[in-house]
Amino acid sequence: MIGKIIGLGSYLPDKVVTNDDLSRIVDTSDEWICERTGIRERHISDHKVETTSYMAGVAAQRAVADAGIEADTIDLIVAASTTPDTVFPTIACSVQKAVGASESCGCFDVNSACPGWIAAFLTAQSFIESGRARRALVVGAETLSNYVDWTDRGTCILFGDGAGCAVLEASEGDPVRSIMRSSCVRGDCLYCASMKQPDRLDDEEFIKSTYFQMAGRDVFRFAVTEVPKIITDVLNEAGVSSDDIDWFILHQANARIIEATAKKLKMDLSKFPMSLQGTGNTSSASIPSLMDVMKRDGRLVKGQKIVTASFGAGLTWDAAYFEY
Ligand code: ACO
Repeated sequence: MIGKIIGLGSYLPDKVVTNDDLSRIVDTSDEWICERTGIRERHISDHKVETTSYMAGVAAQRAVADAGIEADTIDLIVAASTTPDTVFPTIACSVQKAVGASESCGCFDVNSACPGWIAAFLTAQSFIESGRARRALVVGAETLSNYVDWTDRGTCILFGDGAGCAVLEASEGDPVRSIMRSSCVRGDCLYCASMKQPDRLDDEEFIKSTYFQMAGRDVFRFAVTEVPKIITDVLNEAGVSSDDIDWFILHQANARIIEATAKKLKMDLSKFPMSLQGTGNTSSASIPSLMDVMKRDGRLVKGQKIVTASFGAGLTWDAAYFEY
């Protein structure tokens, strides 16, 4: 039994911030950002309206419409985020309200930084494999712009806001193969101490504690070492050759990380789709949003063999192999 993806949806805020816009705020340039990251622009939310829960809800509504199902047939919603609007209720509960799912639908969130969407996807797959759910929504949603120090050129150029959602339905087929790994010992290179609190926006010291702290080179080295390894391992576990894979759908953090991964796997870069040029790193939203784009432009079609992999704070990294 497998939870097949039967619908996809995504949401990006209207406001676009280009590299040239950023070069007016910090000492950087379009040329530097494009060369080092591949990113050209990112979407930044209007924080009063486009909250993480709001974006998650719209992405989920679009995915449900794409799947063509009735909301009261959804029996599980799992949402991944590192940037929820509140400690509770969960984002999954706000998605339940947005799509109009019934009270017999279980709702909870997972936080595993950027790899969170794959963690949520695997959690939903386990519910489906064990027969405890038949239809599930798996959401990734982030407002990273709330946690970026807009005076730090080393981080503010990288991130964007957005949300993505997949609808899973129990179907006959081989279960998803997956690997999850983590290393707290190596985790200091990526850190965020506090959640934003609307009533403490004037407290400068507190606000500083909400900023992303990142040793970029260490994260880069970790990613280009571990992502190719975990992909190789998940392919071996599934007994599939890399040549059989139609798409390697990786976390959209940096084009150079994706290029290095393709090179280490000795695979053609054309099998590694990228959307980061127009979105920046949207953390747990990046993989479902990219899949939604690929479905809409006709690249993602039924029966294709997919490997997906992600990495991020913790440190955590994960990979999954499945048939779309
Ligand atoms: N514009 C211009 N110059 C810059 C900028 C900028 N925006 N940022 C840094 N520089 C400078 C540095 O100060 C440094 O100057 P120096 O040599 O005079 O000291 C020089 O450029 C090189 O800096 P590096 O940090 O070595 O640049 P690098 O090539 O490593 O690129 C980057 C930096 C883009 C951050 C890269 O390391 C990276 O992408 N790392 C991975 C980050 C990542 O993916 N994080 C997300 C993880 S997922 C999650 O959980 C959120």
